Amino acid sequence: MKRIKLFTYIVSFIVAFFFSYNVNAASGAPCGHYLSENGLTEGQCETIEVDPYDLSSLQRGAQIYMNYCLGCHSLKFARYKRVSEDLQIPLDMFQENLIFGDQKLGDLISIGMDSKESKVWFGNSPPDLTLEAGLRGPDWIYTYLKSFYIDDSRPLGVNNKVYENVGMPHALIEMQGEQFSVCKQIPEIATNGGIKQDPLTGEQLTVEKCGFLEVKDGTGIQTAEEFDRSMKDLTNFLAYMTDPMKKERESIGVYVLLYLFIFTILSYLLYIEFKKDLH
Ligand code: HEC
Repeated sequence: MKRIKLFTYIVSFIVAFFFSYNVNAASGAPCGHYLSENGLTEGQCETIEVDPYDLSSLQRGAQIYMNYCLGCHSLKFARYKRVSEDLQIPLDMFQENLIFGDQKLGDLISIGMDSKESKVWFGNSPPDLTLEAGLRGPDWIYTYLKSFYIDDSRPLGVNNKVYENVGMPHALIEMQGEQFSVCKQIPEIATNGGIKQDPLTGEQLTVEKCGFLEVKDGTGIQTAEEFDRSMKDLTNFLAYMTDPMKKERESIGVYVLLYLFIFTILSYLLYIEFKKDLH
């Protein structure tokens, strides 16, 4: 009986381990007025899978970050050298292509912009992004980066579906192109959840819904798929930034659990030995 109990413990332990292994950290705050593709849900972030083991994605993300974001957002809890080592970018290549100004490899990734001045320019100072993925979650960041659209009523000419009236300009407009908030006809949903039809003709009824995002053809360097991939890479890089030890942690974790597993078997065998003496 006891043996069966122990066996159940071990099996549930293994099952729990594999289930917990794939659970991602924070899934992100709700995404403002972001509309799903079918227009039925609002404010739900798109989901992405970040992968700290995908080095080429991290390298592409770092390249985009250093070129388009570092002008305003520091990563002041990280050093260039550590990033170049973790991402396996040769030091000389990193120094030449990804460090601007007179900063050195051993320096923290800081910026020269004065936060008081930037507050005057943008209404808010650009926050440091080292821990941003921990704060907002990768899904939020990914959806936010895809949600800038042209809005002439705003001081910078753009707005954002996830973060309304944001003070950040659309830093990636040349990459993505001009995105607009447009209206579309979508199927009308009846109270029972089905699609409404015209009782006479049987045709599907539609209603107009506004707030869909649409990029004007030919205005960006990248296609929609390429831009999505770039934003995944950039988000992946920011997720790595928040948790640079993730890879090591996970591999150490596996060894620790293996050790505990073997130790459990050994202590069980020892328990049987002791038990023999008792009778
Ligand atoms: C010209 C300066 C500028 C550039 C370049 C820029 N940002 Fe920003 N960003 C800002 C400002 C200002 C804010 C604060 C907006 C606010 O709070 O209204 C901000 C806010 C953000 C936020 C939200 C922070 C939060 O949690 O409130 C994220 C995420 C972000 N930026 C990511 C990026 C990324 C990624 C890039 C590069 C593609 C980038 N930014 C480029 C100025 C900039």
